[in-house]
Amino acid sequence: MTSKIWGGRFQSATDAVLEAINVSIDFDKRLGPQDIRGSLAHVAMLAARGIVSQDDAAKITQGLEQIKTEIDSETFVFSRDYEDIHMNVETRLAALIGPAAGRLHTARSRNDQVATDFRLYIRDTIDALDAQLADLQLALAERALAEADSVMPGFTHLQSAQPVTLGHHLLAYAEMIGRDRGRLQDARKRGNECPLGAAALAGTSFPIDRHMTAQALAFDRPTANSLDSVSDRDFVLETLSAAAICATHLSRFAEEIVLWTTPQFAFISLSDKFTTGSSIMPQKRNPDAAELVRGKSGRIIGALTALLIVMKGLPLAYSKDMQEDKEGAFDSLDNLALCIAAIAGMVRDMRVNRERMKSAAGAGYATATDLADWLVRRLNMPFREAHHVTGRVVALAEGRGVGLEALTLADLHSVEPRITDEVFGVLGVENSVASRTSYGGAAPENVRKAAQSWLDCLKAQR
Ligand code: ARG
Repeated sequence: MTSKIWGGRFQSATDAVLEAINVSIDFDKRLGPQDIRGSLAHVAMLAARGIVSQDDAAKITQGLEQIKTEIDSETFVFSRDYEDIHMNVETRLAALIGPAAGRLHTARSRNDQVATDFRLYIRDTIDALDAQLADLQLALAERALAEADSVMPGFTHLQSAQPVTLGHHLLAYAEMIGRDRGRLQDARKRGNECPLGAAALAGTSFPIDRHMTAQALAFDRPTANSLDSVSDRDFVLETLSAAAICATHLSRFAEEIVLWTTPQFAFISLSDKFTTGSSIMPQKRNPDAAELVRGKSGRIIGALTALLIVMKGLPLAYSKDMQEDKEGAFDSLDNLALCIAAIAGMVRDMRVNRERMKSAAGAGYATATDLADWLVRRLNMPFREAHHVTGRVVALAEGRGVGLEALTLADLHSVEPRITDEVFGVLGVENSVASRTSYGGAAPENVRKAAQSWLDCLKAQR
């Protein structure tokens, strides 16, 4: 017999390579707190059902509490000799309380144990991410309220399209983050079922109470099918999918920060807190945090892809392949947390160059649509014809190398004689943006209302 917990039928030691490929304690030690919570619930249930004695349960509980203290205070010694977190805890329990420790694993397997631990971990992480995302939304809404009137170019194809405001632009991200939070909540809701008691794969002959453990661990209910309980990791996949989408949103924003802080755009600047210098070019101020948010989206998306591939060929029920579910998920969710904090930090840090944004907003004939709309409204022209007339006006201005507002009424009359000087009112960027009062449009009054409603809603959530 070998010294392994599972070593009863084994005669000789495992190969060093097997040890190296099999050991997971280096990363799954993170599940320590969740593993203890699961075991505490399990032993309380075993005692309540008379499966272990009150006396043994008390010893086990006390031992687990002691281990929890050791883990919390970072004095617990994690050992690669015991493979994973479950066996590290159990081995320590045996050292602390003796033979009674051996009763904890009654009616349980590492298969339902790890599934339970990981569901608890994912749930905890979703809650932490949600709080961070709410804080990011707060930063966006506060800033949007302050920049509700700050005109900036809106782009399509990264070409000047129509003027918008910075507040409107920031609130676009508040909406995206709102949906990201919704996706995480959906994942939390669907994943909030307790696999504990499914045992290895088939359930158990002991008279356990799965509702009791589910309730003790604040799950909504026990999982309904023992095979499914230990086989699926869709609760991780859904969370990683929500994380990947969120990282994609943050990456797009990061890209905009990178663009906007270039001297060519110069819409915003970041302080010393969020920029770094170059070791050779003294003038440089690099937006490293934004670049890294953009870069980290790669590994966050990658973790989702990796786990999908791990899972896709596995027959039911548990296979050791599934131990590969953790590192990528930890890495993805850790880095997402960092990215959210970095973006929130930059939103609060950025200094806005309103003059520069406003002058850029007028460039590229950004109010051409306003002219076309005016022709429709005042001259009752069909929009397609108005589009055409406006195109000719733009060509005229372009030929002269000036903006639309610099053309004279006589210039405009050479294209369309019915135009009046009232039209100049819509050619300025501020009037243009102020006129976008349709529901969800860029008008400052809309932006103020939307920002305020985000602020109210975020306050109510606290
Ligand atoms: N460390 C394992 C994992 O993360 C725990 C489950 C092991 N189960 C087993 N039957 N070997 O997947």
